Amino acid sequence: MIKTSADLRKAFLDFFASKQHQIVPSSSLVPGNDATLLFTNAGMVQFKDVFLGADKRSYTRATSSQRCVRAGGKHNDLENVGYTARHHTFFEMLGNFSFGDYFKEEAITFAWEFLTKVLKLPEDKLLVTIYETDEEAFQIWANKIGVPEEKIIRIGDKSADKKYESDNFWSMGDTGPCGPCSEIFYDHGEHIWGGPPGSPEEDGDRFIEIWNIVFMQFNRQASGEMSPLPKPSVDTGMGLERIAAILQGVHSNYEIDIFQALIKDTAKLLDCADLEHKSLRVIADHIRSCSFLIVDGVMPAGDGRGYVLRRIIRRAVRHGHKLEAKSHFFYRLVSSLIEQMGEAYPELVAQKHIIEKILRIEEEQFEKTLDRGMALLEDILTDLDGDTISGEDVFKLYDTYGFPADLTADIARERDLKIDEQGFDEAMKQQRERAQQASQFGTDYNEQLKSDKHTSFKGYTNSSYSATVIELFDNEGSVNVLQAGASGIVVLDNTPFYAESGGQVGDSGLIITDQGAFEVSDTVKVGNAFAHRGVAKAPIQLNARVNAEIDTARRAAIVKNHTATHILHAALRKVLGEHVTQKGSLCDAEKLRFDFSHFEAVTPTELNEIERLVNQEIRQNHARDTQLMQIDEAKEKGAMALFGEKYDDEVRVVTLGDFSTELCGGVHVNRTGDIGLVKIVSESGIAAGVRRIEAVSGEGALAYIDQQANTLASIAGLVKSDVAGSIEKVEQVLSKNKQLERDIAALKQQLAAQAGSDLINQVIEINGVKALIAELDGVASKDLRGMLDELKVKIGSGIIMLATSNDGKVGLIAGVTKDLTGKVKAGELVNMVAQQVGGKGGGRPDMAQAGGSKPENISQALASVNAWLAEKLT
Ligand code: ALA
Repeated sequence: MIKTSADLRKAFLDFFASKQHQIVPSSSLVPGNDATLLFTNAGMVQFKDVFLGADKRSYTRATSSQRCVRAGGKHNDLENVGYTARHHTFFEMLGNFSFGDYFKEEAITFAWEFLTKVLKLPEDKLLVTIYETDEEAFQIWANKIGVPEEKIIRIGDKSADKKYESDNFWSMGDTGPCGPCSEIFYDHGEHIWGGPPGSPEEDGDRFIEIWNIVFMQFNRQASGEMSPLPKPSVDTGMGLERIAAILQGVHSNYEIDIFQALIKDTAKLLDCADLEHKSLRVIADHIRSCSFLIVDGVMPAGDGRGYVLRRIIRRAVRHGHKLEAKSHFFYRLVSSLIEQMGEAYPELVAQKHIIEKILRIEEEQFEKTLDRGMALLEDILTDLDGDTISGEDVFKLYDTYGFPADLTADIARERDLKIDEQGFDEAMKQQRERAQQASQFGTDYNEQLKSDKHTSFKGYTNSSYSATVIELFDNEGSVNVLQAGASGIVVLDNTPFYAESGGQVGDSGLIITDQGAFEVSDTVKVGNAFAHRGVAKAPIQLNARVNAEIDTARRAAIVKNHTATHILHAALRKVLGEHVTQKGSLCDAEKLRFDFSHFEAVTPTELNEIERLVNQEIRQNHARDTQLMQIDEAKEKGAMALFGEKYDDEVRVVTLGDFSTELCGGVHVNRTGDIGLVKIVSESGIAAGVRRIEAVSGEGALAYIDQQANTLASIAGLVKSDVAGSIEKVEQVLSKNKQLERDIAALKQQLAAQAGSDLINQVIEINGVKALIAELDGVASKDLRGMLDELKVKIGSGIIMLATSNDGKVGLIAGVTKDLTGKVKAGELVNMVAQQVGGKGGGRPDMAQAGGSKPENISQALASVNAWLAEKLT
């Protein structure tokens, strides 16, 4: 009997292997080279190009158990997780595939055989759906398999104008392979509410789809056009968790072995007795997606895949809070997950520590965000009129505190409130537009330039080269001559100027003609042409013979920084670990900037070690070696390549001794000793999981050290010491400063007390009751309460009304001694005054505070108190 998830996975793969299918391992959750898709959301994703005919495999039948994430993008189940019996952010999809091999008949026959013969599911519990017009599928189900006609349900398009938008027409995304499908459903029995597919009750949990068989026939284009695939193919998917639920005799996926174990461990960790609690399910689901996403290289971040990961982690943490988690808990579930899935996925075991670390850091950071954001949210809720939080406020929480809108909605829901989703979407749209405008700012004609010319780069070995002008542009477009004074672009057939790429900035210099020179300020690539941007100092003509000369001093500084970047990259991996990969870089004449993946700040000790190692390699004076080779050979040599970057078949490999090997098209020093020295200037975080190091090299490093030394000398001078003694001196100054601040605070208190006793002299009597009505000068609103308490003691019995103003804001406080609160209420008094200064307030009968926005009305408002009190006190 097949029961456990592990047995089921194996039985499925074995079954299809016995039908000549190649068993293919699960691919990464991050689809390779597919920008159209956020995450691998089905078994077919790794075969997309095979379906499209762009990729060939040695087999035409395949089977896999694919890890999938459906959170974000076309297939997004995030919001449903925990609240239904079968939605997950992460799940395993069992699938069999035919690439132009078998089609509908075998696909249906295989599925039926596996379900009824191998898993031995009772036939009368199964029913199927087909795409409305798919007669062929109908015939197979009815005549070959023998499913009763009333159990073959036809499902059409959602509406007449939405062709192919149907539950029985499957698409990977907005573009890509797609086709009609036939689904197999399992009837969990009458005791569960729900109706068959296509009925109004289909959303119930009684009839659950277990297997989807897609007849891949089309490639959906971005335009909406459906072009036929080279060969009709088959793609199927069966959710492992759903089928395991059936085999284990339970109804909800969350009751199967894997989830029960996770839920129990979570409950134990959080001390939760109610094993049915929805939050336990959410957490058990989310630890799976989060751990696997991290295994596949996704880091929590502010956008893209990293943002989805962050949202899932935050959702899990929030549900932990609902269960009153006392401390960081989420990362502690990784061990429990490994117990359940480590055998099938050894990569989980291998990366355990990294997963735990990233989850813990993210949870800690979120806690801080949550505290700040919750404070703001409470303010918003206090001032809320009605039951809807405005879109603008939801946006502010998101933008400033990283509160995803669904989190705010969650909290709102807990308090019977709503959020204005439309308003939020509108605010998001405006932000996107602003960002777009910002990025368009400064675009100029150069960005739209097109050239079909080809420039040959001579700058690896030459700093000057004689060449011919093959194209010229001014601000309007292509021209035959650039006049003196005109700014524009010169394209040459050969050039020693490096065009910006791979982080190395473009060269500057001169293009010398018979008549004078064109001053190049920057060089960029336009197609295969090198565009030298700059200003003509003398006329320059098309076809002119010129001598191109780069600014060699600037180039020398740039290449020092570039080679230093390679050494730094290797040193970072040595000191921090192999997870460090390049996320971006910039090498110009002044500095180098290197962004890399790492999940916490680099400590000062690590930085010292990195810098020491870099300089050690510089002193080793390795000769730089550059070779052209095939990409496979380069990878074999362990050359570091950029993830997601597309490389040509032939690549350039730059090696520095046995320390660094990288694919790189840039220019470098001849020996590492040429760099002289590298000094790290700063280390900072630029996004979650991405750090940035800035450093200087060569003369820049010396200049930096000089500057630091000068600063130190100036500080020493200011505290009248030498550099060695300056620390002690500065410490003395600081501690003296602290003492002075304490003295000032004490004096201020004395002054306030003095002011209090002065005020007592202003007490008047109204109908025999003592009253003190005063506007205070220079008293902060927050100090009013303390003053009032003191004055009440001094007055013994009476009524006090004080007002102050700071920065255009009014602060008011009213106090009534207990014996008088029967006649006068402080809340009413303060409110009466507040209304006249543009505010409102209230509070207890003996003490009440308020604010206001019209300081200019204070005198008049206070003047009205006398009469108001007189009336109350008659
Ligand atoms: N690719 C199909 C699905 O995900 C099988 O349902």
